[in-house]
Amino acid sequence: MKSNTKWQLSGTSAALYESYLVPTIFVPWAEQLLDRALPQTGESILDVACGTGIVARMVKDKVGKNGRVVGVDLNGGMLEVARAISSASNIDIEWLEADVGNVPIADNSFDIAFCQQGLQFFPDKVGALKEIRRLLRPDGRCVICVAQELEKNPLMQSQVTAISKHIGEEASGAIRAVCALSGGEAIKNLFLKAGFHDVEWETVSLTLSHDNGLEFITNGIASTPVAELIAEWSGEARNALIEDVLDGFGDYYDGNALHFPHVSSVVTARSV
Ligand SMILES: C[S@@+](CC[C@H](N)C(=O)[O-])C[C@H]1O[C@@H](n2cnc3c(N)ncnc32)[C@H](O)[C@@H]1O
Repeated sequence: MKSNTKWQLSGTSAALYESYLVPTIFVPWAEQLLDRALPQTGESILDVACGTGIVARMVKDKVGKNGRVVGVDLNGGMLEVARAISSASNIDIEWLEADVGNVPIADNSFDIAFCQQGLQFFPDKVGALKEIRRLLRPDGRCVICVAQELEKNPLMQSQVTAISKHIGEEASGAIRAVCALSGGEAIKNLFLKAGFHDVEWETVSLTLSHDNGLEFITNGIASTPVAELIAEWSGEARNALIEDVLDGFGDYYDGNALHFPHVSSVVTARSV
């Protein structure tokens, strides 16, 4: 079995990702990134590894109709959801299916580049950051976040433990990958190698909540790359896995709701 470590989703997983993971996890992180980048009316924005497009949509609200927003992602299924939402709401965002290592857009095109929970999945991280820097204007800002180690992140830790037990160690690689680039200092060095300036990082811990833990974890797992591995499972086998994930939260699960810490490194940098 080859582990899916680039967060590539298939089937209905992208739609579930948007319905369950985005409101609980990715909206609060996007608020953190926007607070640091302070996008202004009319600025041009790149959302790298945009997934279903939450950062792009939130930033479009800030830059207004004269601001250009482009979302780039490798995964056609994620972009399909992003496109459907923006066209249903008449939001003008360009969506581009491309690898971050080779984005077909001219140099110096953007004032700000975001990358929310994406860098950990790129095989050539310095190459990706060089490409982002090429796309930024002189003095462009880059703001990203990357989950810290598993031990600090019960959402990922509980899934890795339960998936290893029920499916196998290798299957847990897709979730492990979320926390595989944990050191803020190591990330800072990647930025410096890519030529960025004024690189700063901080640890940010958010308390995330869902009032129905069972619903969140059931649909949460279905919106990860692990979904395809359990697609054919019986209801009983699936319930046993989900029960173990919930048990893994310990005191962060009260039998109904989940309230858990989610810890990431937030990095800010300038292109020149
Ligand atoms: C955990 S999701 C985060 C998505 C989004 N930034 C958000 O906040 O919801 C990681 C995303 O990285 C994308 N990705 C992984 N490797 C990539 C690459 N080499 N180039 C572009 N996107 C990539 C995946 O397709 C996936 O959509």
